[in-house]
Amino acid sequence: MAGHGGQAQAMRAAAGRALTGSVRVPGDKSISHRAFLFGGLAAGRTRVTGLLEGEDVLATGRAMRAMGARIERDGKAWVVDGVGNGCLLEPEAALDFGNAGTGARLTMGLVGTYDFAATFVGDASLSARPMGRVLDPLRLMGTQVLSRSKGRLPLTLQGPRAAAPIEYRVPMASAQVKSAVLLAGLNAPGVTTVIEPVMTRDHTEKMLQGFGAALSVETDAASVRTIRLEGQGRLSGVSDFAVPGDPSSAAFLVVAALIVPGSDVTIENALMNPTRTGLIETLIEMGASIEILNRRVSGGEDVADLRVRHSALRGVDVPAERAPSMIDEYPVLAVAAAFAEGETRMEGLDELRVKESDRLAAVAAGLAANGVTHEEGEDWLTVTGRPDGKGYGGGTVATHLDHRIAMSFLVLGLATPEPVSVDDAAMIATSFPEFTGLVSELGGTLEPVAG
Ligand code: S3P
Repeated sequence: MAGHGGQAQAMRAAAGRALTGSVRVPGDKSISHRAFLFGGLAAGRTRVTGLLEGEDVLATGRAMRAMGARIERDGKAWVVDGVGNGCLLEPEAALDFGNAGTGARLTMGLVGTYDFAATFVGDASLSARPMGRVLDPLRLMGTQVLSRSKGRLPLTLQGPRAAAPIEYRVPMASAQVKSAVLLAGLNAPGVTTVIEPVMTRDHTEKMLQGFGAALSVETDAASVRTIRLEGQGRLSGVSDFAVPGDPSSAAFLVVAALIVPGSDVTIENALMNPTRTGLIETLIEMGASIEILNRRVSGGEDVADLRVRHSALRGVDVPAERAPSMIDEYPVLAVAAAFAEGETRMEGLDELRVKESDRLAAVAAGLAANGVTHEEGEDWLTVTGRPDGKGYGGGTVATHLDHRIAMSFLVLGLATPEPVSVDDAAMIATSFPEFTGLVSELGGTLEPVAG
């Protein structure tokens, strides 16, 4: 299925030799989006290094340009000249976010409290995803929503003359919703408060503080977080902002090294923020040989190099509480679980149903197509593995415009007796354009399938 504007490109992965060598994964997608958003908003110049140049992030950059920011590539860095908080311009044309939920939802927050109209469009995947979770709090702040498609894209936001700050308890574990409310609060007078019962990735809080926002976080005895943001304050550009490597991209290479016999791979500069390390924790519980080396701080975040060797894995129960810290990693965890001895049980997966695809259904279908024993529940998945992978592979996986489904099943095919194909690998460019190149560099076999 096309829908990304380009041609679908089918791809096949086949088992071959061990994966070996050292690679650096590209910049973190969440942080890269925010670098363009906050740099584009803050007064003065922000210089960003290590930015992820994936299609999702570039779409956010174009949206910020359309609202007045200057964004240019300067060698390996990006230079962003922001407009100043409160000074975004009305976009003349619709803002097209392609496949990017983070770009669309955070920008809705950012502009939703401006007294102008902004129209949001996206690809078939993004246009099927629920936006009500962001629109609900925006309406409470005074934003009007014009949409014929019931809380889905395309839609137009029209902010009020003066936005009302709100106190909002985030009803699901979502960093995007938390962030959208905080960004809307930047243009509202007084204090906007977000209550987060379950902690999600905290990049918005940390980065807004770095750009000079008056933002505080309090965590109570029950781990409920209260985030307070003083609206209409000054934000200033950050002279040197370094984006750490994306742990959600590293995840594919980590699992590939674990399941391909003889592998020994080092992944450099991976973000180790504890709101993002649930997969590593789970794989170590499963018996994975993952050494965390050279721990350091870069750009205000913990980063490290990961040395990963082929390992005998065993199935584990992954508790629902861990879901927020590995929400994008379940598809590839299912692939690791396919090679583990015994059953892996994953719970609390309801949010997987509203990602770039219904990821729970897409993973289950991909496992079924390749002979992996599993059971899919409403919000859980079990996978019963076979360390020898006997009988695995031979299937073609429907990716539903979902980059992580494509990469997960290509990783599966690096270790199965029969190759695994995906119907479309073009979407991988949204988050990890270097994926196929890096896998080949490590010795893996990925090849396009003629259409
Ligand atoms: C993201 C938050 C998560 C995650 C997405 C990136 C972010 O989404 O799945 O890939 O950058 O804030 P939700 O907020 O929907 O959980």
